[in-house]
Amino acid sequence: MTGLGFTRADFPEGFVFGTATSAYQIEGAKFGGCGPSHWDTFAATPGNVERAEDGALACDHYNRWQPDLDLIANAGFDAYRFSMNWARVMPDGQRVNPEGLDFYDRLVDGMLARNIRPYATLYHWDLPAALADKGGWRNRDVASWFADYTETVMSKIGDRVEATATINEPWCVAWLSHFIGAHAPGLRDIRAAARAMHHVLLAHGRAVEVMRGMGLNNLGIVTNLEGSTPVDDRPETIAAHERNHALYNEWFLSAVFKGEYPKAALEGLEPHLPQGWQDDFPTIQAPVDWLGINYYTRKRVVNAGGAWPQIAYTPGPLEKTAFDWEVDPDQLRHFLTWAATEYSGDLPIYVTENGMAGHDYLLDGTCPDPQRIKYLRDHFAAARQAIAEGTPLRGYFVWSLMDNYEWAAGYDKRFGLVHVDFDTLERTPKDSYHAIRAALRE
Ligand code: FCB
Repeated sequence: MTGLGFTRADFPEGFVFGTATSAYQIEGAKFGGCGPSHWDTFAATPGNVERAEDGALACDHYNRWQPDLDLIANAGFDAYRFSMNWARVMPDGQRVNPEGLDFYDRLVDGMLARNIRPYATLYHWDLPAALADKGGWRNRDVASWFADYTETVMSKIGDRVEATATINEPWCVAWLSHFIGAHAPGLRDIRAAARAMHHVLLAHGRAVEVMRGMGLNNLGIVTNLEGSTPVDDRPETIAAHERNHALYNEWFLSAVFKGEYPKAALEGLEPHLPQGWQDDFPTIQAPVDWLGINYYTRKRVVNAGGAWPQIAYTPGPLEKTAFDWEVDPDQLRHFLTWAATEYSGDLPIYVTENGMAGHDYLLDGTCPDPQRIKYLRDHFAAARQAIAEGTPLRGYFVWSLMDNYEWAAGYDKRFGLVHVDFDTLERTPKDSYHAIRAALRE
C-alpha cells in the first residue's frame, strides 16, 4: 500500500494520471512578446489582489519549461493539462505573435519527447486587455474573437495534442468575475454577468465548431462543480441553495447537454440576457467528446436577503485547507456520478483539477505536506467509488504541478506537488510528489 492508498492496478486499464497548470499562473507574462491581459490590469488595480501581485514573472516557466516537464515525467504522470495564454498568442487580440506560437509548439514537442500526453486548454482566463477594452465577455463578438484565436493556435499544435478543452471553469469566467467581482475584470453587474454567462457558452460552441471544421477531435469543456449545502431547512435557505446550485453547477452543463438554462437561475438572469439568446443553443450544443470536472470543496449556503439571488456562504465544521476551503471528498464522488447521470451519459469524464492549498514550507531541503497526501488519498478513493458506481471516469489531473500565482490570492496559496521558492524560483518536490511517484511507478 502506498501513501496515497492506491497503485495503477486499482484503476481501470488505460486510466490517465496527470497534473495540471495554467499559462498565466506559471509562465511569466513579461517574456516572449506576450501582451497585457485583463489579469495584468486587474492586479494593477489597488485592492484586487493580495499584495498587488501579478503574473509578470510567476514561476518563470517560459524559460524553465524543460526541467518542469522533467518533473512531470519523473513523477510518472501520463499526461499534462496545460493552457495557452491568449495574450501571448495574440498580444493585442488580433496580431499573431510568432514567438508565442513557437513557445507552445516547443512545449508540446517537449511533452511528446518525454512520453507525456498533451491535454490543452484554450482559455484559462488570460483575455487580452485590448479585447477587454471592447467589452470582453460582455460583447457578443467575443465568440468570434475566440474562434479566430482557436483556429490560430490549433493550426500550430492541434496535430499533436491528445485532447483539447475550450473554456476552463465558465462559472469563474462569468459569475465570479462579473457578478461577485473577485476575478478579472472585477465587475459587479448583473447585466454584465448575464451576458458573460451566455457568451462564454457561445464562445465554447464556436470553438468546438471551428476545431471540428479543422478535423480535430477529442474536444471538451471543463466545468467547476462545488458542493452546495443549505445551512438549515427554512424555505428561504433552500431557495438560496437552489439558486446557488443552478448558477454554479447546472447552468453550463444544462446548456451544453440539454440546450436549456435551469429555471432557478433564469428567473433572475433572463431580463438581462442578450436578445435572441434562445437561438444560440444549436451552437452551444455542438457535440463534445468528453467532460472535464474541477472539484475542490463545498460551500454552506445561507439566505443573504436583499436582491436576487440572495446567496451568501458561511464557514462549516469540516477540516479546512489553507484557503479555508472545507474538505469534502464524497462530493467528488457525488458530482462525477451526478454529471454522468444527468448530463454527459456515456461520454468520458475526467477530473481535470483537484488538489488543495497548504501552509507548505521547506525543512532541511524537503517539503512535508501530510495534509495534501491525505487529501489526495481521500479524493482518489472517492473517484474509485464513482467508477465502481459505473461512472465513465477516464482520468484524473492533480492541481497543480507546482506552487503558482493563485489569482486574487497571489503567491501564498500553495497548491503544488512541487514547492517553488518565489525569490530564487528553485523547485523542491514535496512529500506528496514523492507519494504520487510511488503510487504511479509501483
Ligand atoms: C481553479 C482554477 C485554477 C486554480 C485552482 C485552485 O478554480 O481553475 O486555476 O486557481 O482553482
